[in-house]
Amino acid sequence: MAVEKLFTPIRIGNVILPNRIIMAPLTRCRTEEPGNIPTDLNVAYYVQRASAGLIISEALHIAKSAQGYAGSAGLFTDAQEAGWRKIVSAVHEKGGHLSAQIWHVGRVSHSYFQQGQQPVGPSAMAVPEAKCSIIQPDGTQAYVPCTPCRGLTIDEIQAVVGQYRASAQRALNAGFDFVEEHAANGYLLQQFQADSANRRTDRYGGSLENRARIVLEVMDAMLEVVPPQKLGVRISPYFNINGIKESQPEEMALYLAAAFRERKVAYLSVAEPSWVGGIALTDRFKEKIRQAYDGVIIYAGEYTAEKAEAAITSGLADAIGFGRPFIANPDLVARMRQGGPYNTVNTSTIYKGGAKGYTDYPTL
Ligand SMILES: Cc1cc2nc3c(=O)[nH]c(=O)nc-3n(C[C@H](O)[C@H](O)[C@H](O)COP(=O)(O)O)c2cc1C
Repeated sequence: MAVEKLFTPIRIGNVILPNRIIMAPLTRCRTEEPGNIPTDLNVAYYVQRASAGLIISEALHIAKSAQGYAGSAGLFTDAQEAGWRKIVSAVHEKGGHLSAQIWHVGRVSHSYFQQGQQPVGPSAMAVPEAKCSIIQPDGTQAYVPCTPCRGLTIDEIQAVVGQYRASAQRALNAGFDFVEEHAANGYLLQQFQADSANRRTDRYGGSLENRARIVLEVMDAMLEVVPPQKLGVRISPYFNINGIKESQPEEMALYLAAAFRERKVAYLSVAEPSWVGGIALTDRFKEKIRQAYDGVIIYAGEYTAEKAEAAITSGLADAIGFGRPFIANPDLVARMRQGGPYNTVNTSTIYKGGAKGYTDYPTL
């Protein structure tokens, strides 16, 4: 199959992307604790990948208490904002575009990040299925079980919503082309969506509308500072790790998609769960998403160039996100254009290793 559509331009909001090969958001844990300020190493990593139609940044936590992995990047201090401004400028200089993914891990965290206190989630519970990473006293990084969480109060939910807005404002200050609300992958905003994590009896729990409420309140807060043509959102229907089990994943996705449409959000990114052992999303499901939402739709999860071309040709997807292929292939676009070959990912350096396994993958 000839791969052509992937290389056609696409407009998102007011930006025209030169191709439909999107770098999916990838947490790489390459900032220093504490501070989580991007460095020249991070600049180099993103610049190497600037030929992507759009780079979606690694998830950026909105407060220290919103962090669950040592070394993950933040966007709530002046120094972090300045660091991201450098990355954005350098990528823009190479003709690339960037979206800032704004993140709260919720209960996928540890007292290490919470000044010795409990992490927060929709409802108090232990999450034996979820791991987070901390720096141990000897300076090494370790994966450990999450500290059992406590439930957020309504006032605290409002404060978290404000943190999303503040972080979105910082993303714009830093020059990002788009800001993305991270409502996927079992983190705070999906914890509220999932009955397994949300046992609340107030207006944030129970019915589907109530469980979706925080996603839309956060979005509305972000829209106070980000114009809709610069806003994106990520969801992960049928995601089933980190203790997430939803009784109505399709209904929730369609309800949210319609609400995103009403708000004229520029793009909807759907993280497919198959890469972590979940089901394959069906074409029927994707058709319904297409009907519910009229902006640009990006799917990600185990795509090859050929599979991506077929998805775009079918009309179900507008662009495709590639995660691990972009870790190993900084020049993924050039490689796809000529049909490979592709480097493979070194799994031991995905979340650690400094420049090793980060900026040293060879180009063609
Ligand atoms: C190392 C790694 C880090 C990731 N970090 C994020 C993240 O920060 N935010 C997010 O929404 N998804 C994250 N994901 C999910 C990816 O965006 C993507 O959905 C997933 O890797 C499947 O795509 P792939 O098969 O092309 O790798 C991550 C995946 C990997 C492998």
